[in-house]
Amino acid sequence: MPDPTRKTLSGAISGIIAIKDARQKARATRDLVTAWTAKALPLGRQMPPDRPGRPGRPLLRPPREVPRRRITQSVHGRIALLHAIAHIELNAVDLALDMASRFTGTSLPLDFYHDWLRVADDEARHFLMLSDRLADLDAAYGDLAAHDGLWQAADATKHDLLARLAIAPLVLEARGLDVTPTMIARLQAVGDAETAAALNIIMTDEITHVLVGKRWFDYVCGLDRLDPVSTWHNLVKRYFHGDLKPPFNIAARNAARFSAAFYGSLAVRDDLVASSSRRHDA
Ligand SMILES: [Fe+2]
Ligand SMILES: [Fe+2]
Repeated sequence: MPDPTRKTLSGAISGIIAIKDARQKARATRDLVTAWTAKALPLGRQMPPDRPGRPGRPLLRPPREVPRRRITQSVHGRIALLHAIAHIELNAVDLALDMASRFTGTSLPLDFYHDWLRVADDEARHFLMLSDRLADLDAAYGDLAAHDGLWQAADATKHDLLARLAIAPLVLEARGLDVTPTMIARLQAVGDAETAAALNIIMTDEITHVLVGKRWFDYVCGLDRLDPVSTWHNLVKRYFHGDLKPPFNIAARNAARFSAAFYGSLAVRDDLVASSSRRHDA
């Protein structure tokens, strides 16, 4: 019997978020975005699942039990790095799909859905690319433990579009812009040009994701007549329990039109950087 919920965007998205197999979810996401680009579905009002479907592996563990990602000539650290980023990308697929379906009750222009579906398509492409790279190194997504911090951030902001926009793209994805160039340089230094090239593609795409996040954060602030900078500060203090750690990739953040007026004053003080940088990165 045909499932009537699949005739709406939110119904189709709920079905994809529930898929457990990671590659299958990524492919279904790409297919949905292709279909949507050809012909938009009605949005519908189906709430996405609160927890996405996930494969039996990787096991989700506290951050200190997740393998270290050391970029060296030895392949193990690079597999740990690829695995950790693949896990982030899979979470990012679910997060972008969730963004395009959870808030359909809010009156937002169709461009909002176009933007987040394009982000979801990028994240699915990133996941598949990293899975392929893991396979080149005789490894696979699921081989190592992973942590659940990203989905916890999603869960904490599920009731509030502005909070979700403040945290997911403008704290977590923006952090990716800061740390990825160093990873790329280290990968090149150890001769892993293929992984470096994959991260370069991701880096370029992620600038557009922060741009999309900032665009819609400003838009929703405008609807509610809120000042974007002070609103972002309040939401970050309330919902993000880590540090905003310098150094920031100011050029990439500027390219995403995310100015230091937002994050500069919330950065941890220099004297705290040494101790905080010893902690495990999210
Ligand atoms: Fe990504
Ligand atoms: Fe992203």
